[in-house]
Amino acid sequence: MYRTRTCGDLRLADEGLVVTLAGWVQRTRKMGGMTFVDLRDRYGITQLVFNMEQDAALCEQANHLGREFVIQVTGTVRERSSKNANLPTGEIELIVSKLTVLNKALTPPFTIEEDTDGGDDLRMKYRYLDLRRAAVRRNLELRHKMAFEVRRYLDEQSFLEVETPVLVNSTPEGARDFVVPSRMNPGQFYALPQSPQTLKQLLMVSGFDRYFQIVKCFRDEDLRADRQPEFTQIDCEMSFVEQEDILNLFEGLIKHLFKTLRGIEMKEPLRRMTWQDAMKYYGSDKPDLRFGMPFVELMDVMKGHGFSVFDNAAYIGGICAKHAANYTRKQLDQLTEFVKRPQIGAKGMVYARVEADGHVKSSVDKFYTQEVLQQMKAAFDAEPGDLILILSGDDAMKTRKQLCELRLEMGNQLGLRDKDQFACLWVIDFPLFEWSEEDQRFYAMHHPFTSPNPEDIPLLDSDTGAVRANAYDMVINGVEVGGGSIRIHDSQLQDKMFKLLGFTEERAQQQFGFLMNAFKYGAPPHGGLAFGLDRLVSIFAGLDSIRDCIAFPKNNSGRDVMLDAPGELEPGQLEELSLKVELK
Ligand code: AMO
Repeated sequence: MYRTRTCGDLRLADEGLVVTLAGWVQRTRKMGGMTFVDLRDRYGITQLVFNMEQDAALCEQANHLGREFVIQVTGTVRERSSKNANLPTGEIELIVSKLTVLNKALTPPFTIEEDTDGGDDLRMKYRYLDLRRAAVRRNLELRHKMAFEVRRYLDEQSFLEVETPVLVNSTPEGARDFVVPSRMNPGQFYALPQSPQTLKQLLMVSGFDRYFQIVKCFRDEDLRADRQPEFTQIDCEMSFVEQEDILNLFEGLIKHLFKTLRGIEMKEPLRRMTWQDAMKYYGSDKPDLRFGMPFVELMDVMKGHGFSVFDNAAYIGGICAKHAANYTRKQLDQLTEFVKRPQIGAKGMVYARVEADGHVKSSVDKFYTQEVLQQMKAAFDAEPGDLILILSGDDAMKTRKQLCELRLEMGNQLGLRDKDQFACLWVIDFPLFEWSEEDQRFYAMHHPFTSPNPEDIPLLDSDTGAVRANAYDMVINGVEVGGGSIRIHDSQLQDKMFKLLGFTEERAQQQFGFLMNAFKYGAPPHGGLAFGLDRLVSIFAGLDSIRDCIAFPKNNSGRDVMLDAPGELEPGQLEELSLKVELK
């Protein structure tokens, strides 16, 4: 046997036992006649002790161990004289009597410890070494447990996990496709699925009733901290359900995950907010509700007093930061710089402090009487010690988005976005369509299979932009972790939807004929949703980027720097594929 125990499980109760361990040398320390080695494996770290006086040759052997050597040791468990409370095995050490070097190792390019000295690029290049670090390993363990608990919960609810193909046609989720050339069909390409959307709908037509799949999806879009070109969905679909059934069942899943993985019981029903309200009060369809600071619109109060910036604005609104009136001029200037950054794009920021006596002192005092400023204070329900921050602009939606950034920044600065607090909500009643100024046409906000809210069907032709969808998103801490909808199951309504989205009959038939034909053979009412597994894990683990819970992620240019992918093809491969590469 290579080992009788692991590096994580020996305790004081094991004192006197003779055990064999195997693992990697994290570090060695020489102290007088003793050599200490931290031996690491997946389960933890155990301190090994070599004593010059007891066995000089063995100790000498230990002194020659390099970092990350793979070794096997046999020894006796002993109580430590100086205990390490930070380590589960910190009460014991192993007095080694036999040491075998199983494999030597080059010196790693960065230290493989909790706080590594390796930069991002280096760690990604040597990701297999980075994965030895406990911090990264814990994230993958959580990911495993989450997938496991998802399967357990859904299995108990009679869901079947069905695999769908990866070599498919374009699936419309709003991003670009990754494509794969077909050798047997020269000049033709598969597309990798952006999601199994149409396939899971076909499974409903087949009568599978409750489907799920933990599945890789591929989207060629610009990358951010919460986006990867290949990511994993917990993809679900159900038949004979209404929106309410879906929200309840998947609220149950999220609560199950919080309970089993974080020990958090969420007894209350999750909050629900309409898309309209989310935009009005938080300027975002994924509001972070760990803290309040809702927007207050100030058009009535602040317009028409001679301050031209506000007088010409299409939107004036602000937030009230509790107990922040002590912000210094410098901090306020920095906030102004923050909102003026090109990524945010505001022209400036107005601030007002509520002083101890209730008096309001603002940066635009010369345009406003104290009476108006008091009305403004009342609109916020502000109290002495509060700070009011106001933005305005000639495009209401844009200004709300800027105010959203300011609110989140204030949340950060005031420590209101604690990673151990979780605020979950459903955002419902999304618009069905999104107007593109650039293309002068409507796009589906979710995807073309989302059904309109039945009450709004009469508006489809007359007031297309106002039609609400039977669509919903789950948001946790300001991150969209999942989304879905009730689908159209009527081929005529689906036809109409394609028309409104500017598909010619021919193109709709060519791209989605298979689905529309299937619907003619008895499609049940159905709906579903998909969670982003990577995003869920990263929120549960308190990570800044989903990359940290993916074993082998891509960088922001979509590259795997370890594999050096993507790469060029051999001329022979191109030949087989009947392809010629000509870069534009
Ligand atoms: P949607 O496009 O909203 O819906 O995707 C569902 C969830 O997948 C996650 N997600 C991503 N995670 C990481 N990187 C990405 N690039 C990425 N893109 C999306 C998000 C998102 O909420 N077929 C529909 C679902 C349905 O209607 O049932 C769909 O894919 O957490």
